[in-house]
Amino acid sequence: MNVSVKYMNSPQGYGLVAIILHWLVALAVIGLFALGLWMTGLTYYDEWYRRAPEIHKGIGILLFLLMLVRVAWRGINLSPNDEPGVGELQIRLAHATHLLLYVLLFALMASGYLISTADGRAIDVFGWFEVPALLSDIPNQEDTAGRVHWYLALALMALAALHALAALKHHFIDRDRTLRKMLRVPVHQPQALQSSEKEI
Ligand code: HEM
Repeated sequence: MNVSVKYMNSPQGYGLVAIILHWLVALAVIGLFALGLWMTGLTYYDEWYRRAPEIHKGIGILLFLLMLVRVAWRGINLSPNDEPGVGELQIRLAHATHLLLYVLLFALMASGYLISTADGRAIDVFGWFEVPALLSDIPNQEDTAGRVHWYLALALMALAALHALAALKHHFIDRDRTLRKMLRVPVHQPQALQSSEKEI
């Protein structure tokens, strides 16, 4: 059968690239939160005391780069149509939630950067490259950035949980395509389906 996978978004749904980026970011965010929580319980004599924060920072920097790609990709793609039958207020709330998820994530990464660079040392990313410390002279930088990082992480996880619950409600209660749009890639079948798109 002559079908082609859609890499770009279309009015019918998210394309392959947006779907992969969404789930990679979701996995990284949840993983970093779990790792960060676990790290806070480690003592100086624990063998992970130094390694865990190195991994947390390295993945955080890679996540930042991935988010830049995601935002750029979003900028050159259209957003899929909203589900028919969903009220105006609900659509506005969903869009505001998505925007806030992006804002919280960038603020969280900025505060993490400020904690790591408070002592003037660059961040080493798995020995591949270093991110220089550009800001290290803010008074009480490490403590203040640490507190902000903690509350932002809690806020992001709470909002992401609400966002995930809303997606599950759409899927299991409203039985619409909201979650399926983020799980399945629409395929293009040139002859057979021109007005409607199939999903794989
Ligand atoms: C912690 C992790 C997560 C973050 C940071 C996150 C973030 C986002 C963002 C920013 C969007 C908007 C995409 C865009 O238009 O550019 C989005 C869409 C979406 N997310 Fe998540 N998400 C996370 C986890 C989840 C989970 C666990 C689920 C499902 C159970 C989910 C389901 C969806 C769905 C279905 C959409 C499409 C909504 C629509 O088109 O109206 N997300 N997510």
